[in-house]
Amino acid sequence: MSLADAKISVLDRGFIFGEGLYEVMTAVECNLLHYKNHFKRLRDGAKDMQLEIPFSDSELYCLINEVLARNHFACCSVYLQFTKGPAPRNHFYPSEYVPTLFIMTSPFKMPSCLDVVNAILLKDIRWQKCNVKSTSLYANTWAKTMAKTSGGEEAIFEREGILTEGATSNLFLVYEDRVLTPKENEFILSGVTRELVLEILRRKNINYEETVIPTDSLWRADEVLLTSTTKGVVAVKAINGKPIGNGKNFNLGVEIFEAMKALSFT
Ligand code: PDD
Repeated sequence: MSLADAKISVLDRGFIFGEGLYEVMTAVECNLLHYKNHFKRLRDGAKDMQLEIPFSDSELYCLINEVLARNHFACCSVYLQFTKGPAPRNHFYPSEYVPTLFIMTSPFKMPSCLDVVNAILLKDIRWQKCNVKSTSLYANTWAKTMAKTSGGEEAIFEREGILTEGATSNLFLVYEDRVLTPKENEFILSGVTRELVLEILRRKNINYEETVIPTDSLWRADEVLLTSTTKGVVAVKAINGKPIGNGKNFNLGVEIFEAMKALSFT
């Protein structure tokens, strides 16, 4: 069905309460990448939200494949959203509901080389369930827009002097002898790309630590990298106008980018 023909009720809880879950995936030649990890995260979020997903993983996979097959994009992003559907407006979760499922594909160009961006540092004003990929994204859209207004691409969040993640990405700090990334907890989303990067670091025997990282560690890093499904890995040139490392060499960023490209197509 075309986007113009798709309709949902104005009483949908996603519309009324911003109560919903989503995933953004990519597909190459109808090959849905890393979908098991995306489905796992979706189910973890659904458990938290007490949202019954009325499909098995293989049924979900078939539904997405049907949308992919009808669109014939060589390379595309896949957006999937679940809500508890329409119900009379009431803050209590409805006891009975028919979930809304929305799947959309859009043509997408995989980045061909490592992108380098500017970022800003912002106070993490989000809630304490950032591990749930919820559609309530006002804090994220606000932060992204603040970054753009300052001539940047991404906002990096800090909470009480501790780095968490980007507004739409996970964070890696590269030092001479190791790589640091914020540990998984309720303050970050467990990124599918983050896990892929950790796998690449293991394969390359590069030391890494998932840990608590004070904000001032940024200024001593040789490289700061951001990861997400749609951007892959991106290097940060400067934060709040302050160059990262020497602002020119993103050696590990390039190495991870190349490894990721190879992995994504297998
Ligand atoms: N966002 N952290 C946040 C807050 C994110 O929104 C995202 C991705 C990530 C990276 O997760 P993954 O590697 O699984 O894409 C981390 C998607 C792409 C979005 O909202 O469009």
